[in-house]
Amino acid sequence: MISSPLPADVLAVHGGSPLHGEVRVRGAKNLVSKAMVAALLADSPSRLYEVPHIRDVDVVRGLLELHGVRISEGDGALVLDPANVERAAVDEIHVHAGSSRIPILLCGPMLHRLGQAVIPDLGGCHIGPRPVDFHMQALRDFGAVVDKTDRGLELTAPNGLHGTKLQLPYPSVGATEQVLLTAVMAEGVTELANAAVEPEIIDLICILQKMGAIITVHTDRVIEVQGVPRLEGYVHRPVPDRIEAASWAAAALATGGDVTVRGARQADMMTFLNVFRSVGGAYEVDDAHDGGIRFWHPGGELNAVALETDVHPGFMTDWQQPLVVALTQARGLSIVHETVYEQRLGYTTALNQMGATIQVYRDCLGGTPCRFGRRNFTHSAVIAGPSKLHGADLTIPDLRAGFSHLIAALAAEGTSRVFGVELINRGYEDFEAKLAALGAHVDR
Ligand code: EPU
Repeated sequence: MISSPLPADVLAVHGGSPLHGEVRVRGAKNLVSKAMVAALLADSPSRLYEVPHIRDVDVVRGLLELHGVRISEGDGALVLDPANVERAAVDEIHVHAGSSRIPILLCGPMLHRLGQAVIPDLGGCHIGPRPVDFHMQALRDFGAVVDKTDRGLELTAPNGLHGTKLQLPYPSVGATEQVLLTAVMAEGVTELANAAVEPEIIDLICILQKMGAIITVHTDRVIEVQGVPRLEGYVHRPVPDRIEAASWAAAALATGGDVTVRGARQADMMTFLNVFRSVGGAYEVDDAHDGGIRFWHPGGELNAVALETDVHPGFMTDWQQPLVVALTQARGLSIVHETVYEQRLGYTTALNQMGATIQVYRDCLGGTPCRFGRRNFTHSAVIAGPSKLHGADLTIPDLRAGFSHLIAALAAEGTSRVFGVELINRGYEDFEAKLAALGAHVDR
């Protein structure tokens, strides 16, 4: 046990006990924040249900309020009223620098509503360089003039925004959202090739359609948008958070536990469920009662697997870190090839300090050579197991890696001190209360 008092941002995790019980996931972090931005395009209020209390939502709320959007809570929904949208003081916008990546998505809506957009420097997780070149090229193709300043970006559209034909170099989630949020009110038709088609993007398209947009999703990642002159507010219940759901599933498996994730939806998690079963985890989709998916460790040994992360419908990059913790408990050699982000394996150093045996490689250890092969990026890993994990001092580097540290600490024998747990609040609602409900022994 820890004897000296700990600072508030440190969690003491007394590991070694299986997690048992139920948690509920609400609207997906990676949809909700974009849905809030979409409300800016309307000329009447929007109502968004199941909005989780996470820091990313607070950041977007702050930025929208700064631009005159009135935001309130009522009847379980977030109500966003854009009737009085106005330009904000540049200095106040820059206060939000470094807080999130969502502000980049304000470009199109701000240009439509205010004729200019001032975007602070972006934040978000440090999992690679995370450039915004696809976003900027697309906005220029629509007719925007982009000015890079030493504090961020300033955009104008002196001749308005016009539909265009675009092809993304890679099916980027954010760039696809950028194009959608701009094209819906641009004059004429936009055709986007090599678009991302994640469930959160399809849900954003549903929202925009409710608002009055005309969007067709063709086969082969082609999306066509017919611009319309005005959009109205929406009422929407978002897709559940499939990243959080998979994180709890991995925690159940790594700790030898049994966790039911209420709100989790099978259709969005098919690829994860296949891998979970291949590793030796058990799950049951509950369609009879309140809905959700129960995940548990059925006893016996777990199996090593080989997997590659990919864009949808592949295995999500955000599922990778939590699952790797469970793979440290599988017999044999597991192989992970991360093809979405070039620097998303740094957290394995901490797992090795806890007793795991994970070796990282620059090579593409998978069937698909990716953009990062033969470059200086350690983006593949071999995990040898099963390993006995022991408690350690851990510093959280980013959101998903942070939750993985937490899972590892829960699976380990002894006490770990996890530093920087506030980062986890960016994407996991009430995670400490949920951990307590699952019987975890944690304290601040
Ligand atoms: N990319 C570029 N140029 C661009 C945009 C992207 O090179 O202009 C590259 C990125 O560097 C990356 C790849 O394209 O290598 C994919 O990036 P993408 O644009 O798809 O990611 P994102 O929109 O920035 C969202 C989620 C991430 C999630 C990815 C992939 C949000 C707020 N973030 O990021 O979620 O990992 O899609 O599914 O929606 C998280 O929740 O922890 C998280 C990081």
